[in-house]
Amino acid sequence: MSTYGEIKRITTHTLQWMKLNGEKISMLTAYDFSMARILDDAGIDVILVGDSASNVMAGHETTLPITLDQMIYHAQSVVRACKRCLVIVDLPFGSYQGNSKEALNSAIRIMKEAGAHGIKLEGGQEVCESIKRIVGAGVPVMGHLGLTPQSIYKFGTYTVRAREEEEAEMLIQNAIALQEAGCFSVVLEKIPASLGADVASQLKIPVIGIGAGSGVDGQVLVMHDMLGVTKNFSPRFLRRYLNLYEDISNATKAYISDVKSKDFPNEKEQY
Ligand code: KIV
Repeated sequence: MSTYGEIKRITTHTLQWMKLNGEKISMLTAYDFSMARILDDAGIDVILVGDSASNVMAGHETTLPITLDQMIYHAQSVVRACKRCLVIVDLPFGSYQGNSKEALNSAIRIMKEAGAHGIKLEGGQEVCESIKRIVGAGVPVMGHLGLTPQSIYKFGTYTVRAREEEEAEMLIQNAIALQEAGCFSVVLEKIPASLGADVASQLKIPVIGIGAGSGVDGQVLVMHDMLGVTKNFSPRFLRRYLNLYEDISNATKAYISDVKSKDFPNEKEQY
């Protein structure tokens, strides 16, 4: 339970307070109204409308195909559900890499059309000009380093990043650059735990990890993975809290059987 007094609405300042006071930040992805309502009511601190929607909602192999319009649609549904948590929305691939004006326009569309509370984008030094411009317009920005799925064709693989000293050092420099550019937080994905802890201790802003160990300031998971809706994705960092694939499959089979056998609907289930 939070020790931040009576939290009416989580803000970027609440997350900063949590880091300063050693309270870990909980973050999950969501993409629709019904699930976001459950997570918000349960007390999640941050909901990320991740571009992982491209995978888990739309069935694409990578996060690259999802569009800004599609992200806005998901974000609108999530924002309508949330009364307490902070809602951050990913800028999708191709909506910010061109130049800082394009990045600002995309961020503004997400804030205006979806009513989000901030945006997330991937990359280090190369996106700092865009971050400064977006933050300058009053929009909170979360960075994302380590395994950045929008660059999967550059990496060639989803394996752990920054195991080598040179890449680890570059990640630290990029994290500092993101903080200096004005990010309120940074996500670190799939890097050694020791590096995650190192970055979290060097930065003043909260560092949220996914496969970045326990030494960071908070954790994020893709909701479909932690609920066991996806079943063929089992990275080491994933803890499954339910096995919904099995549960939903069994419920569906029971329903089919009840319909076929004319057991459903019964006397009490009709008018
Ligand atoms: O899109 C996403 O779900 C993410 C998380 C993995 C951090 O970026």
